[in-house]
Amino acid sequence: MGCQYFEPTEGGATSYTVAIPKLTFGRGALAELGIRAENLGLRKIVLFTDAILEQGPILEIARQSLKKQNIEFTVFSDIKIEPDDDSVMLAATALKEAQPDGVISVGGGSVIDTAKAAMLIAAHGGHIKEYFAAPIGSGKPIPGPVLPHIACATTSGTGSECTSITVIRINELNTKFVVASPHILPTIAIVDPQCCDSLPSNVVASCGFDLLCHALECYTARAYTEHAEIKDPGARQLIQGANPFSDLSAQKALEIAGMYLKRGVADNTDTTARDNLMWGATLAGIAFGNSGTHLPHAMSYGVTHLMKDITSKDYQVASPFIPHGISVIVSAPSIFKYTAVAQPERHMQAAGFLNADAKGADTKDAGEVLSKRLIELMRSTNIPNGLNAVGFNNGHIKALAKSSFRQQRALANAPRESNLVDLENMYSGALNYW
Ligand SMILES: [Fe+2]
Repeated sequence: MGCQYFEPTEGGATSYTVAIPKLTFGRGALAELGIRAENLGLRKIVLFTDAILEQGPILEIARQSLKKQNIEFTVFSDIKIEPDDDSVMLAATALKEAQPDGVISVGGGSVIDTAKAAMLIAAHGGHIKEYFAAPIGSGKPIPGPVLPHIACATTSGTGSECTSITVIRINELNTKFVVASPHILPTIAIVDPQCCDSLPSNVVASCGFDLLCHALECYTARAYTEHAEIKDPGARQLIQGANPFSDLSAQKALEIAGMYLKRGVADNTDTTARDNLMWGATLAGIAFGNSGTHLPHAMSYGVTHLMKDITSKDYQVASPFIPHGISVIVSAPSIFKYTAVAQPERHMQAAGFLNADAKGADTKDAGEVLSKRLIELMRSTNIPNGLNAVGFNNGHIKALAKSSFRQQRALANAPRESNLVDLENMYSGALNYW
């Protein structure tokens, strides 16, 4: 099924790299944290978490586990939801002062991404902005390793525990960008579904669509063979396009989302569904850590850049705030109709993994079939009905497109090229769906 997707191209990559942390998954796995840290030779660590988790039972499990192995630790919890350049520079200063021999992060994407960025600055200096790709930053390469990092996920969406990227908001531009380097891939990932038992339904829904889009974007990303060959293997990023390995994990993650997303949102006692969603998030993280996302994530950054006067139930964050998974999915049904034109077979396969009803459909209908399935899943999990429902109208389209057009690296990973007008058209198609 996938082979012809990876046909050699003139000047294109002829090999790809697979990198994942040493991963432990399962209920109760967080209690192994101390032993895992000890096995890495860590004696003095900084434990990154957020201020809410710091007061709760999940962090207590982590603390007790470290104490049992006599590992010295200090807690850093001054984390901003959706970290920005200022907050990660403060975290880096705290890390440098503590002089640990390793870092542990226990939290969602904001905590893990803050830890990654702080470790980068603590090890190699400079300002985080220098490490963003040009023209946003100066594209400074990350010259070598950072401290050992054990990343423990507490939400079933981010996948950051398995990726070599950190997503940071630049305050000056009020938008998010990615720093990517194999050097910031965590050494160990611990994924304990118990950490998600108390997540409210709408948080599970947002995280679920984040994982779904990670997987769907990876599966439909441009093939690695269509990305330019990199002569120096040491310089190869892990955002390298779809490849046979990322296909495997993306396919399974899509099947999990198709089967369990609605159940996991509807019933917080359905541990089968929720544990599966946690595994799906891990697989989707592994997939996008090795291939990269494309338009839905790129276009979500326009949404979070320009959002106003909106916040979301169950998120203790000041307005304006749209949960990441929602900012991604609101435009996705419109985007995949656009991208399916370039790779209809791939989109039809992905729709099948999501358990879409494709009876009587032809391959040329792939975009319609996939989009319809996404809308069905959105409606069954109370996701806002497109951009209108999160405060945008026709008058915002040009600004949204202009903002997202800066995400050139992600745009280049999409299966179909897009210019500013194409982005405007995709946003227009995402205003409402039902
Ligand atoms: Fe995401």
